[in-house]
Amino acid sequence: MKTMSDTTYDALPYEDLAFFHTHPANLAAVAMLCGLRAPPIERCSVLELGCGAGFNLIAMSESLPGARLVGIDFSCRQIEAGRELAVRAGAANVDLRAGDVAALDESLGRFDYVIAHGLLSWVSPDVRSAIFGACKRHLEPGGIVYLSYNTYPGWHLRGLLFDALRFHAAFEGTPLERVRRARAALEQMIDDLPEPDVEYARLLRSEIEALRDDQDAYVFHEFLEADNHPLHFAEFAVQAAQAGLRYVAEARFGTSAIAQRGDMRRRLEAVSPDLLRQEQYHDLLRNRYFRQSLLCHADLPPNGSPPHAALDGLTVLARVEPLPAEADGVRPFRLRDGSVVRLDNALLIAILDRLARAWPQPLGAGALADAVAADLAGIAMPPGASAGAAVREGVLVGYGWGWWQLLARAPAAALVPGERPRALALARLVARDASSVTNLLHSPVDLDAMQRSVILRLDGIATIDEIALALGIPRDAVAATVQSLAAAWLLADG
Ligand SMILES: C[S@@+](CC[C@H](N)C(=O)[O-])C[C@H]1O[C@@H](n2cnc3c(N)ncnc32)[C@H](O)[C@@H]1O
Repeated sequence: MKTMSDTTYDALPYEDLAFFHTHPANLAAVAMLCGLRAPPIERCSVLELGCGAGFNLIAMSESLPGARLVGIDFSCRQIEAGRELAVRAGAANVDLRAGDVAALDESLGRFDYVIAHGLLSWVSPDVRSAIFGACKRHLEPGGIVYLSYNTYPGWHLRGLLFDALRFHAAFEGTPLERVRRARAALEQMIDDLPEPDVEYARLLRSEIEALRDDQDAYVFHEFLEADNHPLHFAEFAVQAAQAGLRYVAEARFGTSAIAQRGDMRRRLEAVSPDLLRQEQYHDLLRNRYFRQSLLCHADLPPNGSPPHAALDGLTVLARVEPLPAEADGVRPFRLRDGSVVRLDNALLIAILDRLARAWPQPLGAGALADAVAADLAGIAMPPGASAGAAVREGVLVGYGWGWWQLLARAPAAALVPGERPRALALARLVARDASSVTNLLHSPVDLDAMQRSVILRLDGIATIDEIALALGIPRDAVAATVQSLAAAWLLADG
């Protein structure tokens, strides 16, 4: 029988990652856009189910120092590793506990935010029901639940890989041995395909090729675990309702049916006035395979108030870089993921120009909209729209496309470094062994070699001069590097 100390997650733990979309600053923003009064995040309580080694909560701790962050996981090895990391990172508000999420009792109390990333569809159907029950039981009356899960129809296609991996490595060996055996066998499968140009061969080959970059732990837990039960959105919504919870929207708001604009909005409404059916239809249209859905207590009023009203209470952040203008007034901008958008829409250009000038400073969405509306004075607006309303709509559209983030509140950070800068404790620990660290916006930042050597010394005691001397680097180079770390939201305030 499996015990709490010999799970496959003990044998092959997950990579330490923070997930932006689980952060209360994002959850509250989405809830507010859906007309809910989300719990204020400064002193909120968060319960993470299936938290692994708790890295997500430990990283959250620096942006939410006044919060209470509790994590539960079955894997003792991961919980022990997480507790040790929390102590080293000074994350005193993180409480990690070994336990079964299907056996929680009332004494755990209620939380403003209950989150479970990578849990719901990776457990047995019984445990899944227990997770919905736990979300209901441990949620404060105005609280928000975040649950991610594999979904159909996308998982029908991913099932090709699922079947092939399990055929080759369903049993014998340690998790790592099984992943290695399966990887080798899949490469052989590409060569063995009898009709390499038929649709099936093309699909399987592209899935196998995409798997090459994935971590061993991901491959094992995603495809070779005993339990992996993707579910249709409709089934998710029914189970949530049975537990007394109601669907709100997606944590990646732009992927929600209610966030769709224009033609897609009309197509969804033509299928049904019911939001839940619209969501399911949207998945069918997009071949969706993963969801990050938010829930609230079923007795809260349904989504209703127009997003524009809620927008003004939110903060906008966008790391965008304007590139030289092209012919015919086309303006290219490089977005935070490195992609480039080329725009000829005056309204979107004006928003991006304002955001680019502000970065790394956050801007209130209402203030941004009013400033852009003033910038656009004299430019024709869509018929019947005021400049303010048109710009707010533009802010929502860009948000839906993932061009910028909306937060309920920006964390405190030193965006202009002082003479004795202090980097985030967790980032300093992680930078000893890795180049990817998590910033105060709960997002990954890739450090170059110079940033890595400097961040290790930013303890709030050493001055920039002392660091330059110790590293044998010119002071200006160190100062510029510290500035780049500040702009990446990696320096603590005060
Ligand atoms: C796919 S991992 C996700 C870990 C982490 N949330 C992440 O996304 O990186 C699933 C986690 O759920 C934990 N888990 C699975 N069943 C559980 C249960 N019944 N009670 C508590 N934890 C459980 C596993 O130990 C594992 O750490």
